[in-house]
Amino acid sequence: MDSETSCSIVDAQNRQTLLAQAGSRWDYRTGGVSMPIHLAATFRHPALGQSTGWDYSRSGNPTRDVLETLLARLEGGVRALAFSTGMAAVDCVLRLLQPAQTIVVPEEIYGGTWRILERVSVPFGVTVKWTTFNDLVANPGQILSGASMLLLETPTNPTLLDTDPEPILRAARIAGALSVVDSTFLTPILMRPLELGADLVVHSGTKYLSGHNDLSAGVVVAKDEAVAQRLAFLQNTTGAVLSPFDSWLFLRGLKTLHLRVERQQASALALAKILPSFAGVKRVMYPGRGGMVSFEVDSANRMRALLERVKIWIFAESLGGAESLITVPAFQTHADVAVEVRERLGITDRLIRLSLGLEDCQELSSDLKQALESA
Ligand SMILES: Cc1ncc(COP(=O)(O)O)c(C=O)c1O
Repeated sequence: MDSETSCSIVDAQNRQTLLAQAGSRWDYRTGGVSMPIHLAATFRHPALGQSTGWDYSRSGNPTRDVLETLLARLEGGVRALAFSTGMAAVDCVLRLLQPAQTIVVPEEIYGGTWRILERVSVPFGVTVKWTTFNDLVANPGQILSGASMLLLETPTNPTLLDTDPEPILRAARIAGALSVVDSTFLTPILMRPLELGADLVVHSGTKYLSGHNDLSAGVVVAKDEAVAQRLAFLQNTTGAVLSPFDSWLFLRGLKTLHLRVERQQASALALAKILPSFAGVKRVMYPGRGGMVSFEVDSANRMRALLERVKIWIFAESLGGAESLITVPAFQTHADVAVEVRERLGITDRLIRLSLGLEDCQELSSDLKQALESA
């Protein structure tokens, strides 16, 4: 990266300042405050053996580079990589493992991550040592002994169990395992895993980071240069990079990340307090931070009727965007998880997951109330 790109983000310490001016400092020639979208797939070389710093867009693109520089700063890492989806980011991290190595993973993770581990990593020869979130919290040293990698999400998806990951990450370090935290649900506004001892942070950038339900993206941020270089090699070799246009959209979404997360968390807290009083609500799960709330209703019929009767909530599979979404994990995000695992984790057809958006919280709450009452 040359001197022009190294000052491509504002020279500030505060994350809110960094976010507000995402992409605003790059265009030194015109002073344009919006990051240009560099659609070029290839870059002209000044002479043989010389480069402007960019050669070919799969290996590096100015719009993507600025996004990655900012993401690395936000998480406190040495380098970030932006991928075409969150799963591409997870895949790249799992490619660090060799056959016969062991990865420790709590069962309470995103269904797509469960699927890639069981259907891709295991056939490749990696041993997946499944544990439960609570066992890992209680006994990290014993569970991590002999492992090469640890992958965890907190809060868990969709049951929203939460923990301070620091003791687990310390145990991973002692065991010599590379620790990876999928921090999609909390974002660097609410938790920064690298500061807590993780080696890598992963995000589905499709969610809170970009925040508008209008692009798919993935992110990996590394604490260590050698690991970052290996990941960059794997990404350039396998090719699932984020496009220039989506990199620009992502930068634009990031400008309001702090405001969105603050608002979504406040709405989630308010809704979690009132939900137990609504008709048919059995159990409410809210970890005290973040914008996600899960709850169980008394029957599968009420769940179906609820989906039909909500007027403001959108029945769709994702989270973290401006629009509030309602999801039934057993049929959507976790459909590929083995039935016995779903049952053990309480992911029933009565479990509903809410992602709070930016609408008026009172209106969201009244909408759920009327839909549950008439169900
Ligand atoms: C926690 C978590 N990690 C990873 C992913 C995968 O991200 P993507 O859908 O962008 O591939 C998701 C998707 O829902 C997720 O919720």
